[in-house]
Amino acid sequence: AVDIRKLYGDTGMFTYDPGFTSTASCQSAITYIDGEKGVLLHRGYPIDQLAEKSTFMEVSYLLLHGELPTQSELDAFTYTISRHTMLHEQLMIFFRGFRRDAHPMAIMCGVVGALSAFYHDSTDITDPDQRMIASHRLIAKMPTIAAMAYKYSVGQPFMYPDNQLSYTGNFLRMTFGVPAEPYEVNPVIENAMRRIFILHADHEQNASTSTVRLAGSSGANPFACIAAGIACLWGPAHGGANEAALNMLREIGKPENIPHYIDRAKDKDDPFRLMGFGHRVYKNYDPRAKVMQETAEEVLKELNISDPVLDTARELEQIALKDEYFIEKKLYPNVDFYSGVILNAIGFPTEMFTALFALARTVGWVAQWNEMISDPEQKIGRPRQLYVGATQRDYAPVGQRG
Ligand code: ACO
Repeated sequence: AVDIRKLYGDTGMFTYDPGFTSTASCQSAITYIDGEKGVLLHRGYPIDQLAEKSTFMEVSYLLLHGELPTQSELDAFTYTISRHTMLHEQLMIFFRGFRRDAHPMAIMCGVVGALSAFYHDSTDITDPDQRMIASHRLIAKMPTIAAMAYKYSVGQPFMYPDNQLSYTGNFLRMTFGVPAEPYEVNPVIENAMRRIFILHADHEQNASTSTVRLAGSSGANPFACIAAGIACLWGPAHGGANEAALNMLREIGKPENIPHYIDRAKDKDDPFRLMGFGHRVYKNYDPRAKVMQETAEEVLKELNISDPVLDTARELEQIALKDEYFIEKKLYPNVDFYSGVILNAIGFPTEMFTALFALARTVGWVAQWNEMISDPEQKIGRPRQLYVGATQRDYAPVGQRG
């Protein structure tokens, strides 16, 4: 084929890198991943230490501001977030416009995008104070929006936030509580949700974060940018993988069936893949998967659930880790392998899994968005392309075609 660029004398160079496998789109000081070693650091702190020792508010502050907060900074931040958990009453009407069986991610895209029409005092992206207010609003309102999407789908009344509770405790109450009855937050479940939120808080330039940055690079308001991130996360290759992993484990059913599925995963004529295995960046054990596995054990024990799905997952992991195919291709469990088991045990329907991911990732999205806007080298994101279409030709009237 003739290279059309030569016709125009275009001798400029650019790289062709589909999927951005080796192209950095930005510089960032937020999250570091060493995929070969299985290392994930937020602002330098290892993810397992954060998941073990910190609160979600601390991690949110860390991602946004670059340092862990002092006690007074943490108190002030927690107070600020709790002040923003309510939704404008007129926004409630939005939920009622959706069909009862709407996917929660569809509702979240719509409602989060609509926030820009309600909070005009935080859409001027040139003002750092307004950017921070928008960030606080998004972190604070996402649990309320996700819980309301759930309540709407099951036909129960919306629960207003209880700001005396922790971030995760408040979310659990808004999701599973009902106005007529007291709701006791189970500390083991609260702790499991805390870990799940921390493990999902950021993961550098993944597809949805890159979407938020690209949308934001044009100067779009933060609420619109986060709505774009939610839309991207919804895809089954990204936020939807934990749902697929749970469905696969249910299909396998019991440990005796595992060898058949391992054989299928290795068969190049079979499109089947082990869901929850493999990662674009990690060529080692995803450090988040280990914490997820421990959390799954804890939650099922606390709830006194004996779920054959967890037995299957444990056994599948052991068999795959010793299998030559998986060793050679460096395929290890990723964060999604155990998370579906936990969320299912807590009582979330599978449609809510990605919504919870979006809730937790919001802090990463706003931190990355703020970093991008503050970067003096930031330009509008405008990838080039390798054109492979027709060369220049003359227009023919419709009667002279074909
Ligand atoms: N099961 C079986 N084989 C696999 C798997 C798997 N889960 N994952 C990769 N492979 C094989 C591929 O067939 C390919 O083999 P080949 O070299 O013989 O062609 C090789 O390993 C490399 O795989 P790619 O798809 O080229 O690797 P890529 O980095 O593009 O894909 C991905 C990563 C999409 C995550 C892939 O491992 C996969 O599909 N995993 C299952 C889905 C999943 O768990 N996604 C969640 C990711 S984590 C997240 O988004 C939060």
